[in-house]
Amino acid sequence: MSATPNPPFWLLAELTYRCPLHCPFCYNPLDYAKVERELDTASWVDVMRQARAMGAVQIGFSGGEPLAREDLEELVAEAHRLGFYTNLLTSGVGMTERRIRALKDAGLDHIQLSFQDSTRELNDFLGSAKTFELKRRIAAMIKAHDYPMVMNCVLHRHNLPHVGRIIDMALELEAEYLELANTQYYGWAWQNRDQLMPTREQLRQAEAVVQDYREKIGDRCRLLFVVPDYYEDRPKACMNGWGAVFLAVAPDGLAMPCHNARNLPGLELPNVRDAAIDWIWNASPAFQRYRGDSWMAEPCRSCPEKGRDFGGCRCQAYLIAGDAAATDPVCAKSPQRGKVDEIIFHATQPAAAAPQPLVFRADAASRGFIGKASL
Ligand code: FES
Repeated sequence: MSATPNPPFWLLAELTYRCPLHCPFCYNPLDYAKVERELDTASWVDVMRQARAMGAVQIGFSGGEPLAREDLEELVAEAHRLGFYTNLLTSGVGMTERRIRALKDAGLDHIQLSFQDSTRELNDFLGSAKTFELKRRIAAMIKAHDYPMVMNCVLHRHNLPHVGRIIDMALELEAEYLELANTQYYGWAWQNRDQLMPTREQLRQAEAVVQDYREKIGDRCRLLFVVPDYYEDRPKACMNGWGAVFLAVAPDGLAMPCHNARNLPGLELPNVRDAAIDWIWNASPAFQRYRGDSWMAEPCRSCPEKGRDFGGCRCQAYLIAGDAAATDPVCAKSPQRGKVDEIIFHATQPAAAAPQPLVFRADAASRGFIGKASL
């Protein structure tokens, strides 16, 4: 392993896996309900202090739904005092006038509000909760408190045809940014892959709509369209490289180089309850495992593009190829690319596109009444 790595830039504080929504594309682990003992306030403050002392500058409070934590305002205040740029990633559920004022007073810099769709029906169906009107009210509240309005909508087969209406809604709500993020297939989304995967034609049409809007609206709202990498021939530079800039801490204190690392077998993830962030980042075997390029096999090892995509995503390599150290199978140079094409082919066959039950995110105890449903 080379010299000491740069310090983490981004700290993602996954405060809780609790969430009032049940989205079938959630990246949280399928067995999230087994994580019972969340870090307490003092432990989170300690994590933030250590990360900041190392040089981290951005913090994202996410989950689950971070508003489910009653100490969110206290954590934001401490992060602000430490000098972090603070981001809240929320569904809006749990936000009130009192809390948004308290978050503003605490120094929160940025709120990203997620919608599931531009229609009440699909938005509420996908979250298994009636949140559409509430989200619109929260959007107005965000504006009234003078935050930049940043909307996020995860895209998939069911809402891609609505992309123009989603943009119209963002304009109506005076969003400054709209992130149109095509589903990444991890966690619950991996479970529902065949029911969520769009066709190439759907993507082509949606991209054309986004491009038209960009020309029409200019800087009024910046549109970010995150293409699903299954349809690319090069992998995404996942996390900008393993252990390079991104440090996630899960609700139970597991420290991870990416949101999904807890699903990788054989990776002993350190816990902030037992180890210092400095050691976790600089010396723990888990963070060193895929850092840099010495772990790479061919075709990555000799690839001139390895400095750009870092071999792609370790979690995707594990899910599709069964080997986290393999070249990301999305890459056309991977000998396993055929597996991605097969997944796409299988998922977008007319038979697969016929009503299939979506499996909604829920713990085992709730599955009985949330369970599965078809569109
Ligand atoms: Fe884990 Fe990409 S999501 S490395």
